[in-house]
Amino acid sequence: MCGIVGYVGREQAAPILLEGLSRLEYRGYDSAGVCVFDGGKLQVAKTKGRLKSLYDLIDGGKAIPGTVGIGHTRWATHGAPSDENSHPHMADSGKIAVVHNGIIENYLELKDYLQKQGKKFHSETDTEVVANLIEHFYDGGCTFRQAVQRAVARVEGSYALGVLCRDCPDTVIGVKKDSPLIFGYGQGCNYIASDVPAILKYTRDVVYLNDGDLLEMTADRVDFYNVHGEPLEKDTEHITWELSAAEKGGYAHFMLKEIHEQPKAVRDTIHPRIRDGRVVLDDIQLPAAYLAQLKRIYIVACGSAYYVGVHGKYIIENLCRVPVEPVLASEFRYADPVLDGTTLVVIISQSGETADTLAALREAKRRGARVLAVVNVVGSSIAKAADDVLYTWAGPEIAVATTKAFSTQLAVMYLLALYIAQELHTLPEDRRRELLEALVRLPEQLEEILSPESIARIQYFASQYFNNRDVFFIGRNIDSATCLEGSLKLKEIAYIHSEAYPAGELKHGPISLIENGTLVVAVATNPALFDKTMSNVKEVSARGADVLGITIQGFEDAIHKTMDSAIFVPRTEVLFQPSMSVLPLQTFAYYVALMRGCDVDKPRNLAKSVTVE
Ligand code: F6R
Repeated sequence: MCGIVGYVGREQAAPILLEGLSRLEYRGYDSAGVCVFDGGKLQVAKTKGRLKSLYDLIDGGKAIPGTVGIGHTRWATHGAPSDENSHPHMADSGKIAVVHNGIIENYLELKDYLQKQGKKFHSETDTEVVANLIEHFYDGGCTFRQAVQRAVARVEGSYALGVLCRDCPDTVIGVKKDSPLIFGYGQGCNYIASDVPAILKYTRDVVYLNDGDLLEMTADRVDFYNVHGEPLEKDTEHITWELSAAEKGGYAHFMLKEIHEQPKAVRDTIHPRIRDGRVVLDDIQLPAAYLAQLKRIYIVACGSAYYVGVHGKYIIENLCRVPVEPVLASEFRYADPVLDGTTLVVIISQSGETADTLAALREAKRRGARVLAVVNVVGSSIAKAADDVLYTWAGPEIAVATTKAFSTQLAVMYLLALYIAQELHTLPEDRRRELLEALVRLPEQLEEILSPESIARIQYFASQYFNNRDVFFIGRNIDSATCLEGSLKLKEIAYIHSEAYPAGELKHGPISLIENGTLVVAVATNPALFDKTMSNVKEVSARGADVLGITIQGFEDAIHKTMDSAIFVPRTEVLFQPSMSVLPLQTFAYYVALMRGCDVDKPRNLAKSVTVE
């Protein structure tokens, strides 16, 4: 959601800003713009639409020369996507230019104040208020940095800001609260960005800003300050992963590449944490004495990460006998949850920046619960705010629709459950070892699902069903959790109306929506519940539905008694089976989206990192 890049150095800024913004496209956006110092003037170019439009507008950057600048991709919150509402925003007298990620909650009150001071506004955005507020303090006698500091002190909400001042042509200021911003050290130049891929081509040495941190950078130096304006020492992190990890590497789309990266990502997440027949979670402090007094675990997250939490309920309750409640992060804070030292709150987030999830985390801590975060992005806000962090080693996930992060989050649920079971002795030793062995085998089995033959079969089914208007996903027990994710994938990237239900629930209402040709995807991977799910399949077939089954190898004969179309996945422990089922569901959604001509990696209206509540 919104991407920021800033550069100060000796090269032409605009091409570097455009290149950086192209690496942030995955975050989701609907307009883009840059501001560059051009012969003492702040030159702004911005436009609604894709980066290509901005690129054409400024001739790849040649039209606005200058070596200092800021750039932005906007995901509309206040005001429709339009040229006027695009960033950067200039203050009324043209002295300050701002790019912003986040939401200024008290912008109407500030706007009113500034209008009374004579400031004119030209957009519907909250960001323009920030530009004017900075200019207001600057005109009042503050230095550029003091003006930014005083402005952010008046602002309520979330922000990462990149700021230019017409009178300081060699300086960029960055400041953040509740939205990500990093600094990158260059050679005779410096950078700011929302995320590492934007500047990884130029530098591997970065500083993650904490909330309240402000930086002032020129080509040759950077100074960091805390919220009180006092100088700060910041640690530099060296990025070890390659840019190719954030590139398509020959695949048509990031989503397809990330689907194929799942065996490796799951292996990287699981294998280092299994040693000598035990789950070893070096990175966290959850001793047996603490676990033994636990009365409840909440799993709190949004979207797909929440669906991992729904799986987590089945997995942890089954293996550890501790009650688990998955809760949507956007609801958690307002549900007055019962929390104290006997409650563990597990927060799941790929980006580590999701505003709803971060707010839920803070609420959990405020109420005295211990918070364990399952996060993919190292150094993210959620990782920093949690008591303990278990990283998913999925690598950078660029496609808006999650695939490999989901699979690694699921893998962490298995690890966590087996760790708790091991510490609390809730499983017989031989059963615990059996489960661990199955877990170690998972990545290899995932590879099998991604063989060219299996993919061709999924592609074939996509070609059969891509024109369907409504799709229902049904399954029982943990399969019903996997259905939620399969359904979301189809909705978000293929724009098909779809719903997910526990298979036994259809007849209590939704079955009235089944008509000739409605597609029902039936996930049936638990042998003990197979016949029950098949009964539900018969109910929908009798009403005209086309049914596509997802079941385990060995059930070919059984399933063909009830339906013609089925995808067979390798067999593992029932609780781990979702890892197998979700791959064909993701791949199915991918090909359906492709056949419908959708923008698979950047679906409409969606952002990768949802930094507004
Ligand atoms: C769906 C998807 C979203 C995210 C959700 C949470 O494909 O990616 O539903 O799962 O926005 O994001 P994170 O995990 O970054 O907190």
